[in-house]
Amino acid sequence: MIHTKLTERFSLKHPIISAPMAFAATGKLASAVSDAGGLGLIGGGYGNLEWIKQQFSMVDPSQVGCGLITWKIEDNLGVLEEVLNLKPRAFFLSFGNPKVYAKQIKDSNIPLICQVQTLEDARNALACGADIIVAQGCEAGGHGEKRSTLTLVPEVADLIANQYPQVLLCAAGGIADGRGLAAALMLGADGVVIGSRFWASKEANVFPDMHNAAVASTGDNTIRTKVMDIVRHIDWPERYTARVLKNDFTDRWHNNLEQLIENSEVEAQKWQQAWEIGDPKKSNTFVGEAAGIINEICSVDTIIHNISNQAEKLLGRQWE
Ligand SMILES: Cc1cc2nc3c(=O)[nH]c(=O)nc-3n(C[C@H](O)[C@H](O)[C@H](O)COP(=O)(O)O)c2cc1C
Repeated sequence: MIHTKLTERFSLKHPIISAPMAFAATGKLASAVSDAGGLGLIGGGYGNLEWIKQQFSMVDPSQVGCGLITWKIEDNLGVLEEVLNLKPRAFFLSFGNPKVYAKQIKDSNIPLICQVQTLEDARNALACGADIIVAQGCEAGGHGEKRSTLTLVPEVADLIANQYPQVLLCAAGGIADGRGLAAALMLGADGVVIGSRFWASKEANVFPDMHNAAVASTGDNTIRTKVMDIVRHIDWPERYTARVLKNDFTDRWHNNLEQLIENSEVEAQKWQQAWEIGDPKKSNTFVGEAAGIINEICSVDTIIHNISNQAEKLLGRQWE
């Protein structure tokens, strides 16, 4: 067993948190992660309350947390309060300034996890009272930014060690096996937040063709882009892009965003139809560079077992 400050504080068997992936991270996925000894998070994403409540109805909220996309909360302020009333195990904010919402979450006695993409974001989240900082590198699947995990994690680790030693740190972005977990701990993290590897699990809400496309891909086949947000009419702040599998759609539009905007009505319809049937050729498969080290779709239990066994061996001793 690998014991860290994260396993201690949250009474976990493994220092592994599953990312609150919009659409994919259902109650089923989150509770499977918690049952296997990690901390599972429901992907509250853009704040569809009906969906979030449905997922919570399937889980023990004292065992699973929830995430929301920070910049989107202001469009629907009631959602934050409703989710807090469900008393999740932890609350995860990412993509935007947590300042306005941090007090409300902390006042509810729910641990606040803030995912950050830069050192400056980390400074801000720490000043807001985050209990866990997640340093997310650009290898990550889904939305993110430009810094890489290998340098962002130790930089944030130093900041925390010097100024906020009570705060925990997790690494995110590109971690999908025991090598990644061991490396993250060596970089100064207390644990990891894993998205893509859990997305590629039997419990995730993902269409089989998208799973198959990811398993057949290498890390080279992914790209950070804005094309999908243009056709979905989701107004993401300029700084964020999302990592998806390359396909004809990204080839056609990634370097022609203005033209895509001009054609967005027609393209949106085609994209949406493909998304609804999980067609990886005509819509986008959200997965990270870790696609290159994900070779099969397995159960959450197997994933966690394999990651932690491999990490223990690599770290060269049994962690007590
Ligand atoms: C399919 C998918 C959807 C995601 N959706 C969200 C989301 O809604 N909110 C969020 O904070 N992060 C989201 N992320 C990013 C994760 O929080 C995390 O940073 C990332 O998955 C870590 O990198 P990895 O994919 O290499 O494990 C998503 C990631 C993936 C793969």
